[in-house]
Amino acid sequence: RPGFAQGTAGGWRPSRPVTMLVPFAAGGPTDVMARLLALRMSERLGRPIAVENAGSAGGIVGTQRLARAAPDGHTFGLGHMGTHAANVSFYRRLPYDPVADFEPVGQYATNPMILGVHPSIGGNAQEVSAWIAAHPGELTVANAGNGSVSYLGALLFNRVFQAKATLVPYRGAGPALQDTVNGVTHAVVDQALTVIPQVQSGGLKGICVTVPRRLPQVPDLPSSAEIGKSDFDIAVWNGAFVPKGTPAEIVRSLAATLNETLEDPLIRERFAALAVEIPPVAERGPEPLRRLIASEIARWRQVASDAGVVPE
Ligand code: MLT
Repeated sequence: RPGFAQGTAGGWRPSRPVTMLVPFAAGGPTDVMARLLALRMSERLGRPIAVENAGSAGGIVGTQRLARAAPDGHTFGLGHMGTHAANVSFYRRLPYDPVADFEPVGQYATNPMILGVHPSIGGNAQEVSAWIAAHPGELTVANAGNGSVSYLGALLFNRVFQAKATLVPYRGAGPALQDTVNGVTHAVVDQALTVIPQVQSGGLKGICVTVPRRLPQVPDLPSSAEIGKSDFDIAVWNGAFVPKGTPAEIVRSLAATLNETLEDPLIRERFAALAVEIPPVAERGPEPLRRLIASEIARWRQVASDAGVVPE
């Protein structure tokens, strides 16, 4: 087929263009990774892949849409620690079941997060804490809604900084980040890949990364441990899914294609520049993701119950 390189991963191939559902708004972490993956996966699958944003707080609308899509391999979607694990504990009536309604295709990325603030709030953790103390009850933290990972990051921020910030929901971390750059909200805790460009351009002040080590992409940012907040420790796993009932041969072919795409030099280079960590081969594919989801649902259930979260 003209315009498409021949892929090496064998098996099933789509017979028409494919839709990649992103359950969050454009410009957020899932969307940024989706567009890169779609570009390189389409070459291997021999069909165009259209990225479709079905953004809503918590990623619920798009994830539900994926659950109800035809299980024929022509619609697949991206999800993460929020949509396929934490959401179970944050919503009383989640309109999908992350285990029963999907076939996992594979994990494709793990991301540290970054606390970014509007420059008027301060340039380091001490200044941020001083601002919070001087403006009781005023701080707002933008996020992608209950159960989204930027929401989980914001909850953790509130606890470790004793910030009592108001959490402001958006349809995705993209618009949440943009409103923080614009000064509509004060802070955001988001996956590193979308915060890094804002920190580099000065749109936001990076305060720390949420893992116990520095990231080479933003070497001046201290780790949470370095600012004395080692409990501010969260990294986000991301995975690809198809609706339950998708034939095994299709799942295998999509998993092989994703696996191959994660070895693509362009993907590796772009992901590395954005601090997106590609899982080792042993952690890719359907079965490791299936196990991860089961253990993560249990882990977030515990976190939510320890934090006294009342599902909405
Ligand atoms: C997004 O792409 O908007 C994020 O992954 C949403 C989130 O914070 O979970």
